[in-house]
Amino acid sequence: MFDPAKFVEEQVAEVRKTVTGHAIIATSGGVDSSVAAVIVQRAIGDRLHCVFVDTGYMRKDEPAQVRESLTKAGLNVDFVDARQDYYAALAGVTDPERKRKIIGEKFVRIFEREARKFDAKWLVQGTIAPDWIESGGELRDTIKSHHNVGGLPKDLGLALCEPLRDLYKDEVRKTARHLGLALSERQPFPGPGLAIRVIGEATPERTETVREACFIVEDEIEKAVKAGKMQAHPWQYFAVLLPVRTVGVHGDVRAYGDTVAVRAVESLDAMSAAYTRIPHEVLEKISVRITNTLGKKVNRVVYDITHKPPGTVEWE
Ligand code: XMP
Repeated sequence: MFDPAKFVEEQVAEVRKTVTGHAIIATSGGVDSSVAAVIVQRAIGDRLHCVFVDTGYMRKDEPAQVRESLTKAGLNVDFVDARQDYYAALAGVTDPERKRKIIGEKFVRIFEREARKFDAKWLVQGTIAPDWIESGGELRDTIKSHHNVGGLPKDLGLALCEPLRDLYKDEVRKTARHLGLALSERQPFPGPGLAIRVIGEATPERTETVREACFIVEDEIEKAVKAGKMQAHPWQYFAVLLPVRTVGVHGDVRAYGDTVAVRAVESLDAMSAAYTRIPHEVLEKISVRITNTLGKKVNRVVYDITHKPPGTVEWE
């Protein structure tokens, strides 16, 4: 039986023995990096520097929430506001893979600068067993396999510290609960964030629209689960802003507006997924709230009923 208290104690002792000087970790609020950060912080205290980069493509209130929960956990967080930088770099870019590449490269450059600032010698990463186990029928964490943000190059010249290397996701969550980390049950969120949930150019304005739509989807589904209208949270649930304008009615006039797709899936490892059978009552609430809140921009909401394969979880 996995014992999180014992695990934390052993890792703290091990890190204390090996990590000398300053260390740095990229924390976006995901459960793996947060747990790794807390363990290393317990071992080396303020010599650990957590770098949180606000790319401008995070969910509603996420930067503030993550900052608060990391600070509450006693972590030393260096908050980098790179929103305008990212928006400028993605202006006019519509190809999804180019978006990912630009976001990833920018992240590496910011991180290199931060490592120099703290004269870091060590890089802490929240790598877990499925990230590196290649075979043996083990659960592969495909969420990580195409991590472009946080997937840092090996030539940063820093020694690697990976305290969670032997853990599986459920053990990481158990450890997070043991450490009292509020973010232990968060749904997976792609590194490039909302930039890949605005199909086409992710302008600040369109990103704002999808941010609000994603918030409404999350909020309505969470309320439905609490009220017993749904048994459990889907594996992932979010909104996508499509580059499709359709006609609607605004008062007495016909007006063109944007389309939002709602996506919710069930999965074990993100390798395959089935669309979630959200009750119609909940879907209706989501649709009405999105068009009421974003009425001047969005006049149509559709629900994605595609499994993976042949679809993917994200639309880009
Ligand atoms: P797909 O869309 O490939 O997604 O079915 C599988 C899982 O991976 C997440 N995802 C990403 N995560 N960087 C990430 O860190 C990415 O570029 C990326 N693309 C997709 C997706 O949210 C799902 O959990």
